[in-house]
Amino acid sequence: MVILDTPETMMRSLPAFSTLRAFLNWTDARGELLRIPDPVSVVHQMTAVHDAVLRKSGPVLQFDAPRLANGTRSPIPVVTNLFGTRERVAAGLGLTLEEIPALGEFLAALRTPAPVEGMRDALSRWPMLRAALSTRPRITKRGPVQEVVTEGDAVDMTALPVQTPWPGDAGPLITWPVVITRPHGSAADAVARYNWGVYRAQVLGRDRLIMRWLAHRGGAAHARTWARENEPMPVAIALGADPATLLAAALPLPETVSEMTFSGVLRGARTHLVPARTVPLLVPAEAEMVIEGWIHPRDTAPEGPFGDHTGYYNAVEPFPVMRVSAVTHRRDPIYLSTYTGRPPDEPSIIGEVFNELALPVIRQQIPEVRDLWLPPAGCSYRIAVVSIDKRYPGQARRVMMALWGMLAQFSYTKMVIVVDDDIDPRNWDDIAWALATRMDPARDVMVLDRTPMDYLDFASPLEGLAGKLGLDATTKLGTETTRDWGQVMALAPQDQDFAAALLARHLPGLGH
Ligand SMILES: Cc1cc2nc3c(=O)[nH]c(=O)nc-3n(C[C@H](O)[C@H](O)[C@H](O)COP(=O)(O)O)c2cc1C
Repeated sequence: MVILDTPETMMRSLPAFSTLRAFLNWTDARGELLRIPDPVSVVHQMTAVHDAVLRKSGPVLQFDAPRLANGTRSPIPVVTNLFGTRERVAAGLGLTLEEIPALGEFLAALRTPAPVEGMRDALSRWPMLRAALSTRPRITKRGPVQEVVTEGDAVDMTALPVQTPWPGDAGPLITWPVVITRPHGSAADAVARYNWGVYRAQVLGRDRLIMRWLAHRGGAAHARTWARENEPMPVAIALGADPATLLAAALPLPETVSEMTFSGVLRGARTHLVPARTVPLLVPAEAEMVIEGWIHPRDTAPEGPFGDHTGYYNAVEPFPVMRVSAVTHRRDPIYLSTYTGRPPDEPSIIGEVFNELALPVIRQQIPEVRDLWLPPAGCSYRIAVVSIDKRYPGQARRVMMALWGMLAQFSYTKMVIVVDDDIDPRNWDDIAWALATRMDPARDVMVLDRTPMDYLDFASPLEGLAGKLGLDATTKLGTETTRDWGQVMALAPQDQDFAAALLARHLPGLGH
């Protein structure tokens, strides 16, 4: 377990980024910010530039002359590809990539606090508690996000440089919103009850958006509490929040942990909030922009189609409409955007780092798991490769069933491949070799029928119900086989060292 000290010294090895601007300055100083003075249209062109740069693990992009759909130039620059590399995702969490596993251990500890074992153990946990307490949000009257306030009829969402990412998209789509909600019956300052989630929002007109929170998300759960009372629900959307806020909102945190408090832990500094102008909610004071408004019960509109992380367009589905009551922003705001599409896209890169964070939690539940990879190309969750420390017959099947049955995040994983711990589950060549040499297609395949699946999977025969495939590519032992199992070939280390030394003299170009 990672023992936290004070928020300043805990875990973070990078400076605190309390604003998006601070993070952009940091990336700029590292040569990872490209400013583009050329006019680039928010309709499709921005996606094309972003996609090409993301595929090369390129820099953050700042489009200084975005062109709107009507051909006019927007004075608001657009930033994309913020988290286009795993290193930048880690940096957004205040860490280097090597420090990610330690944060994963901390998250695992948050989920299942182990029983206190003696006074020494209890004392060692105090610093963690102190850190959590000192990251309570700071509430003030004023903040930069309200330097300019537009209300009522003056609101015009269509003037913002909102991308229409793909040719088949229904219209402009806000892609990096941090949606702020609280349940009915909570007080506006009861920040521990707030939810922050990233849910895309289609711009319908000057003052109307569609809020696409899937039914199992925190925002949708809050909406049900307001609808039950037949009361309009206040909603705020922070745009261009600081990296800790963005990533805390995108992380599937345990129900008991508020994203707001957790963002403070990640940031290494308290979250700074101000009261919104027209809705009873607290909003991030240092964000670039905030959109405020109301969702009325039963007010829905058909959302989409929009290109999604599967690489296909979603079906049109009804989602709640948000009536915008105010837009507030800094004097010189920046608009943060991204696109979702066939991996790799920015969310799939964020997902890779998040999956690494989840490994200690998975190991808590299934201790024989050594490593686990969700290939981004498999839509980040539909295929899993897991390596295990195999000890007994049938163990690979037990691991498959544990992943599907015990851990909600694997409900929609159609295929699980289990390999031994001498196989690198992140290396397709290793996986192919294990499948080719350790698996029998008749004996080692487990097929399940009619298990849960997300509605986005049009390949499943029934909406919401699909099959599951488990491939056991582990070494067969005990009663799993009656045959003599093959012995893995390997050269002795001293012979390999000899070869390396000899080739370093005769073939230095080989790179020994
Ligand atoms: C760029 C981006 C776009 C996303 N779009 C959506 C979306 O449209 N709808 C949705 O339900 N989740 C979306 N997500 C995923 C959720 O934000 C994520 O699962 C988050 O943990 C949900 O928080 P919650 O558990 O508090 O609801 C998106 C994530 C990212 C990073």
